[in-house]
Amino acid sequence: MVQEFEKVGVVGLGTMGAGIAEVFARAGFDVTGVEIDQAALDRGRGHVETSLSRAVGRGKITEEERAAIDARLTFTTSREDLADADFVVEAVPERMTIKRDVFSDLDRICPPGTILATNTSSLSVTEIAALTGRPERVVGLHFFNPAPVMKLAEVVTTVSTSAETVDIVTEVAKRIGKTPVTVGDRAGFVANALLVPYINDAIRLYERRVATREEIDASAQKAAGLPMGPLTLADLVGLDVCLAVMDVLWDEYRDPRYVAAPLLRRMVAAGRLGRKTGRGFYAGKDDPAEPQPTGRFAEMVREEETLELGEMLIAPQIDDALRMIGDGYASAHDVDTAMRFGCGYPKGPTELLEERGAEHVVTTLVAMGEYSLTTIAVPAPLLVDQLPDVGHDGHDH
Ligand code: 3HC
Repeated sequence: MVQEFEKVGVVGLGTMGAGIAEVFARAGFDVTGVEIDQAALDRGRGHVETSLSRAVGRGKITEEERAAIDARLTFTTSREDLADADFVVEAVPERMTIKRDVFSDLDRICPPGTILATNTSSLSVTEIAALTGRPERVVGLHFFNPAPVMKLAEVVTTVSTSAETVDIVTEVAKRIGKTPVTVGDRAGFVANALLVPYINDAIRLYERRVATREEIDASAQKAAGLPMGPLTLADLVGLDVCLAVMDVLWDEYRDPRYVAAPLLRRMVAAGRLGRKTGRGFYAGKDDPAEPQPTGRFAEMVREEETLELGEMLIAPQIDDALRMIGDGYASAHDVDTAMRFGCGYPKGPTELLEERGAEHVVTTLVAMGEYSLTTIAVPAPLLVDQLPDVGHDGHDH
């Protein structure tokens, strides 16, 4: 089925869309990239060119291969040019009004058999599918930043998606060199529901002056062997994207765990969105000096032996992962795969748990709770299950 696919459309060529267009073209598909106007189109083409130059510079592809990839890429400002597309990925800004406009156009322009995928990270795929007359052929295909590098693609299905569509999209994901994890439509899917609250926790610790941003980043990296610390990653992903994910998690669960850190909201309001605006938690030569870690919380963390900064970031994420597995939303294997391939974790959450032992994670969570440094009041049942057997009388059995 996929072999018959030739022409892929990518609507929206921001950082993610441009990366997605590149990934498809590198895998041999003819790609038509669509933007709203010439200026946006030029920027999108620029993203692809920079990324391909980088790949050539690093010896990943030859000049000849680059020329072949370029020849497979077409750029246009007309959605009508997708009239013969077999598969379309949408990566436009995360606003339902914009999605509505795009999907009603795609539904009209593309043949009935064309599969429409959305790269949304914070809107309901089900709602997007319902904007079309072909909800059975609409899925989420969620890529990770930088799209040409990160190997995960979450294939998000809705109650309407047909089994055939899931099969085709899973095969497409493999063909473009990604590792697909197929899940249902739920806020944050797998990776963002685990990653973004952890980033939010880091922002909260920073905001409460528990440590400097460098200390926070370095301690998380050290604790789990991560390629980047959470505040650096927030700048990469975009603070607006992080906030949108927190807000959708809050809307879905109304759990205090998902309340966005006030500083995150303020930074977004101030237009400090991270790398895309040149300023986030880092950057900005004329920024005021970073607030130094002071106050009660910083003292507590220094004094309390059971509170180690890196563990304060990793333990709640492990708890979130076990809750997700306990809910039956994703398997332990899928959770670990998502974090390894989507976020560069050398070990997934269940492997990090195994390394530490449940007792260590629970001790950290309890100590954090005592100082109001987490809203997790009761550790996940699956985590508690793994504690050494303690009977009701409090004695080991
Ligand atoms: N575009 C294309 N290629 C890029 C790139 C970019 N923007 N940034 C890095 N690369 C490539 C490099 O060319 C290099 O390729 P090579 O190994 O084949 O030569 C490779 O990535 C490694 O790059 P560097 O050596 O320059 O840098 P690092 O070793 O520091 O790796 C990183 C950079 C891959 C970004 C790594 O730090 C990482 O994995 N970070 C975690 C990223 C992450 O968690 N992303 C997910 C965010 S969540 C998300 O996107 C979902 C959304 O909905 C919020």
